[in-house]
Amino acid sequence: MHEILDGGGVEVKMKFVLNGRAVSAELKGNERLMDLLWKLGIRSVKEGCSTGDCGTCNVLVDGRLVNSCMMLAVQARNKSVVTVEGISQNEELHPIQEALIEYTASQCGYCIPGIVVTAKYILEKYPQADENMVRQILIANICRCGGYTRIVEAIKSVIESSRR
Ligand code: FES
Ligand code: FES
Repeated sequence: MHEILDGGGVEVKMKFVLNGRAVSAELKGNERLMDLLWKLGIRSVKEGCSTGDCGTCNVLVDGRLVNSCMMLAVQARNKSVVTVEGISQNEELHPIQEALIEYTASQCGYCIPGIVVTAKYILEKYPQADENMVRQILIANICRCGGYTRIVEAIKSVIESSRR
């Protein structure tokens, strides 16, 4: 197995866990996590800005919220990566997704995978989050349709039901 030498075009093999399944991948040392995910068939991860500003490429890496356009794929070596495909398991929607539908929070839908990942992060890390905190964390997710009010309401409803 090659090790990362210069972060450039070096061929690398690595293992990591993607949505609960062990994966072996061959990639370039300078490949972004987003690009590797696309190669592996993950289509929920969108490239909105490529500069870490829009959140459409958000994934969880060992539970941390990450812009996959800003992270080298090799940094995910031996880690666990979760995308929307891993949040809605066995073709059953996660309560976050159910709530986004219930609150008609999705318009064009482009931002929604990133929003779902961010909402999962909020639920796991800040289960006591209030509206202000939800809004503060969501500030890194741009919805060009301007659906923030309904998105926040949907996330708040899931937080509230998880406390019951
Ligand atoms: S595409 Fe990664 S933050 Fe916008
Ligand atoms: S629903 Fe269209 S960008 Fe958010």
